[in-house]
Amino acid sequence: MSKSSSQQPTTSSYHKPVMLHECLDGLNIDPQGTYVDVTFGGGGHSLKILEQIKGGKLIAFDQDDDARKQAENIKSSSFTFCQANFMHLKRFLKLNGVTKVNGILADLGVSSHQIDSPERGFSTRFDGPLDMRMDKQASRTAAKVLNEYGEDKLHKVFGMYGELRNAKTVAGLITQQRVNKPFVRTEDLKNTLQKVAPRGKENRYFAQVFQALRIEVNSEMKALEDFLHQSGEVMEKGGRLVIMSYHSLEDRMVKNYINKGKVFGELEKDFFGNAIRPFAAVNRKPIEATEEEVADNNRARSAKLRVGEKI
Ligand SMILES: C[S@@+](CC[C@H](N)C(=O)[O-])C[C@H]1O[C@@H](n2cnc3c(N)ncnc32)[C@H](O)[C@@H]1O
Repeated sequence: MSKSSSQQPTTSSYHKPVMLHECLDGLNIDPQGTYVDVTFGGGGHSLKILEQIKGGKLIAFDQDDDARKQAENIKSSSFTFCQANFMHLKRFLKLNGVTKVNGILADLGVSSHQIDSPERGFSTRFDGPLDMRMDKQASRTAAKVLNEYGEDKLHKVFGMYGELRNAKTVAGLITQQRVNKPFVRTEDLKNTLQKVAPRGKENRYFAQVFQALRIEVNSEMKALEDFLHQSGEVMEKGGRLVIMSYHSLEDRMVKNYINKGKVFGELEKDFFGNAIRPFAAVNRKPIEATEEEVADNNRARSAKLRVGEKI
């Protein structure tokens, strides 16, 4: 069901947290420690972390104003909320007098509340403006990308972030179409895509295109890369980095960073042959949701959870 963002949803109607117990296990919480939830959303994970903290603190981040409103419901003195992009992790921790932390959780992507709000333009299910900004103050919208990017740049966005086989064709079609009428609504885009979507698989195809646009609009890959590097710098020895991702590009970056100390490229060794990387993987393979959870929450289907421990 769709909700208007002017109504204040409850934590559970805002977003059902994915792999809650697995994330908490991954963090291995010291009640006196300092923890960061960089993707607060509806606060499902944050509330559970707070339950385990006694004397410690939780600093939560989210760039979305709707998430900030949710965070205002939490009155605990152990809790601080920063309405900021997690690519500025280190800076905002410093502003709050924190230089080292004992655990960081990231539950990447968008919340159910964002997807289910037609006016945000994230969903292929409702007609809405081509917006897709998590941070409503940001200047780049999906309409701007579709109406202003050159054909080559659009080709790259759809190929890389949507993994579309016919990315070049879509990019060409969009640049032709916008000459007659600029893209304004999600329906405009879907009507255009109908011409090139594989028959019978239209919805999956639309979802891939929308995902590509959302990643571009919110610079999600750049934000993740910057965040990963800073997580290593602020983490105490023995602290845990717990990251849940929902598509292969993100998961690959997280896996590489934990295993090789780099988002792209190979592991480097020092003069003595020791690996140069801030974390060691706690689990060799990513943790996935149980069948019961997937049956209860379809969003859990594609989630991959990786945990690194600071060396
Ligand atoms: C999947 S939801 C998190 C849900 C949350 N764990 C819960 O249980 O309610 C992801 C949230 O992270 C936020 N987000 C995504 N990328 C972000 C970034 N780079 N900086 C700050 N917030 C971000 C989104 O606005 C969204 O609210």
